[in-house]
Amino acid sequence: ARLRLPTTGMPEDVGDLTAALAGCRRCPLWQDATQPVPGEGPLDARLMIVGEQPGDREDLEGRPFVGPAGQLFDSVAQRVGLDRDATYVTNAVKHFKFTPRGKRRLHQAPNSGEIRHCRWWLDLERSRVKPQLILAMGATALESLTGDRRGLMARRGGIERTEDGTPVLVTLHPSYLLRIPAAERAAAEALFEADLRLAVRELA
Ligand code: URA
Repeated sequence: ARLRLPTTGMPEDVGDLTAALAGCRRCPLWQDATQPVPGEGPLDARLMIVGEQPGDREDLEGRPFVGPAGQLFDSVAQRVGLDRDATYVTNAVKHFKFTPRGKRRLHQAPNSGEIRHCRWWLDLERSRVKPQLILAMGATALESLTGDRRGLMARRGGIERTEDGTPVLVTLHPSYLLRIPAAERAAAEALFEADLRLAVRELA
């Protein structure tokens, strides 16, 4: 059967997310990626976690947040009693964007056009899950969910809203914590931990 490309259809026509994403040609990122990475988790999750885009490991495995950033997220989540298995974990952009550097593939941030095109998929996931709270990790998620990526540091720890009124808790991206100098990491990680704690409290 011919795969129906979900470029003009209504979200209710999409069916299986993984299969539909495999046919996505909304932007060129599908061309170099191994596969799209759909969100995962229960469709009745109260919390949705949104990252930026799959990294190298996620691109190979087809699952979100299974690489180093995911491991850091998991360890902080465990500390604050946030059960990842009960949350829906996804990304603002579903394909890995990178530049080859020797044998390695270096992450490249998605641009606003790519974020906008891929928001169709995030909106679809949001309409299926209908989370009570969304945790936006980093500027890309924040741009996709609120239309404005500026001033992340001043906005983190705050709760904003999507266009349709869903609360969005703003926090840092775990990859950022892995990137900054070791001397700054403990303080930044404490902020990230406080935000995750707030998410747990909001859902209590
Ligand atoms: N970074 C992200 O934003 N998402 C992933 O799935 C992995 C790393």
